[in-house]
Amino acid sequence: MDDINVAAAREKSIRHGHPSTLHLWWARRPLAAARAVLFAQMVNDPGFQQGEGFKYGVNKREAEAKRETLFQIIRELVLWENTNNEEVLGRARAAIWESWRETCQLNRKHPDAAELFNPEKLPAFHDPFAGGGAIPLEAQRLGLEAYASDLNPVAVMINKAMIEIPPKFAGRVPIGPVPADEKQTKMAEDWSGARGLAEDVRRYGHWMREQAFERIGHLYPQVEVTAAMAQDRADLKPYVGDKLTVIAWLWARTVKSPNPAFSHVDVPLVSSFVLSSKAGKEAWVKPVISPSRPSPAGGREEEVYRFVVRVGKPPAAAKDGNKLGRGANFNCLLSNTPIQPKHIYSEAKAGRMGQRLMAVVAEGKNGRVYLDPMAEMETVANSAKPTWKPDVLMPENPRWFSPPAYGMDSYGDLFTPRQLVALTTFSDLVQEARTKVIADYKQAHNPSPSSSLHPAGGGSGRGNLGNPPQSPLIC
Ligand SMILES: C[S@@+](CC[C@H](N)C(=O)[O-])C[C@H]1O[C@@H](n2cnc3c(N)ncnc32)[C@H](O)[C@@H]1O
Repeated sequence: MDDINVAAAREKSIRHGHPSTLHLWWARRPLAAARAVLFAQMVNDPGFQQGEGFKYGVNKREAEAKRETLFQIIRELVLWENTNNEEVLGRARAAIWESWRETCQLNRKHPDAAELFNPEKLPAFHDPFAGGGAIPLEAQRLGLEAYASDLNPVAVMINKAMIEIPPKFAGRVPIGPVPADEKQTKMAEDWSGARGLAEDVRRYGHWMREQAFERIGHLYPQVEVTAAMAQDRADLKPYVGDKLTVIAWLWARTVKSPNPAFSHVDVPLVSSFVLSSKAGKEAWVKPVISPSRPSPAGGREEEVYRFVVRVGKPPAAAKDGNKLGRGANFNCLLSNTPIQPKHIYSEAKAGRMGQRLMAVVAEGKNGRVYLDPMAEMETVANSAKPTWKPDVLMPENPRWFSPPAYGMDSYGDLFTPRQLVALTTFSDLVQEARTKVIADYKQAHNPSPSSSLHPAGGGSGRGNLGNPPQSPLIC
């Protein structure tokens, strides 16, 4: 048990080659635990048993020795290094087969023995709540025919990518274009198992990234840190002249102030002005109200207030932004007038909810760098014009789900225009990549007119990555 716990805990820090890096999934079970439990379920205890017409097992001493052999398999099986160790897996599979044949022998008189206890066919495995797929993946690795299903389409996708698709392309040589800045891959590369497929995923991923960069890169400009920006910010001084990649733009939602004197101003609704509370890296946003606003009704909005990023410990009040207690209750930064939920809902429903850039988060040499919002960044974001958005209506259930109360009726309303442009570009590129893969394959194999793209196994849809059999998915 301790060995399983240690291996399961260690697995959490494995970043390379672990399915958790394929897609984030909550409640993912450690592979080590799944492997150990499945193995333990599939092997018989060697101890002597008798009853209901059967006798089975060996004497105490022999059973002890056999049990120790099985424990030793588990100890080796759970180690991350042995994930693809065919020798260890082979021993585990052999023990499973041995137990299964014993079970079939014991049940040979069962009325449905021919179907249920076939010594030449291990029982199939089905995980109906497969989630991140840890259990069916391990069942497959142990040589079982694994089936996975889940109510959540994301989980189905993860399982398809992890369990169903790789075996179909086992042992295939990659066909994708090698990125221009890389040396041509050697012909003698080892493309056994899923390596060729993984290489193609990398190459087409690179191709998609390049294409996306060409099409929408202009919507994601880097920020050049100027001497002026670093004037009051010692932390920015090492970056002067550098162009930093933006990781995130932080926006504040706005509504017109409920105070008639400021009703032309889009005031922000911010639940926290703290950008980072990490010790030594604290940063926060200070809303600066312009001192030159004698006559707000006549002033231009951008003169009325602006956001400035400050580094260092934030004042206690920054934690709650301009929010007043629970729910959609805020405080107008300019007039101190409470902004009540009713006002926010009606403004939002009337299409008057806006957004204002509050801070820019960029990638620095040693972590994140927080920058003041820039007008040009807002202009670029506003220049994104999506040609499509998902217009399916969202459920109306104000108690649990609030977007429709804010005038966001469809799923598409949850995204900013730039996010929609990016997402549609990526999904278009998935289709284009598919067409390209087929064309590249045809070209690489110089086919006769009758041939087509077959998965490994001659197009049967079955294949394996070593020993495990095919694993269809039901969704
Ligand atoms: C605890 S998670 C499973 C985690 C999984 N063993 C892993 O290692 O990632 C439970 C899963 O059950 C799925 N689920 C919940 N209710 C379901 C239902 N009625 N039918 C099918 N799947 C369901 C959820 O979507 C979730 O993926």
